[in-house]
Amino acid sequence: MSPRPERSALVVAVDGPSGSGKSSTARSVADRLGLAYLDTGAMYRAMTWALLQRGTELDDPEAIARDAADVVIASGTDPMAPTIEVDGQDVSGPIRGADVTDNVSLVAAVPRVRELLVKRQRDTVDAALGGIVVEGRDIGSAVVPDAPVKVYLVADPAARAARRAAELGDIDATATEADLARRDEIDSTRAASPLAKAPDAVEIDGTHLTLEQVVDAIVALVEDVTQADPR
Ligand code: DC
Repeated sequence: MSPRPERSALVVAVDGPSGSGKSSTARSVADRLGLAYLDTGAMYRAMTWALLQRGTELDDPEAIARDAADVVIASGTDPMAPTIEVDGQDVSGPIRGADVTDNVSLVAAVPRVRELLVKRQRDTVDAALGGIVVEGRDIGSAVVPDAPVKVYLVADPAARAARRAAELGDIDATATEADLARRDEIDSTRAASPLAKAPDAVEIDGTHLTLEQVVDAIVALVEDVTQADPR
């Protein structure tokens, strides 16, 4: 990987497993601090949606790598109105569908897909001159390893499943918990940039905290860093 110039804008990396509350937390932190926001999970979902549309065989990593190269994904970074487009089409609704959720871990495990999307993520970070909150699985460990603030957000499996089931309007939290466990297993054991806590990330367990308490904790971390190193 080529060396990157030193960055002056603030980057807050928020990583963690599905259902840990990353999205609401990262958006609120960005809104509170007047920063941009990037949901990298939405990019992997958008890629999965595009490949499903094309009929790519998703159990064939070579086919995924070949077809992924032509897909153009664009992310809007307003935390209160994030957008995601594939080849100019708004896909913010379809990427939350069950067919995408069931297949996204397969697509995200393909190194060529990660290479393409990580490049796009870094370009977005570099363009956010006023600072950005980036949420995902490998932001602090691989995408922006020099981010001055890194958070690893966790929650108990049952709390995560309850949150996800409520988001989906799905009352079967047990099935949701099994699905989250299956995705965690794939995301954490893949060879390319697995879900992992960066050694210098601050772990926050949100199981018994409100959204506001988690946001307060992250804002305090940001203030510590910006007061120690005002730019
Ligand atoms: O956060 P999410 O559930 O929308 O993420 C969708 C999938 O994308 C999830 O299975 C893990 C993967 N992902 C990833 O591999 N790396 C990221 N930086 C973000 C998400």
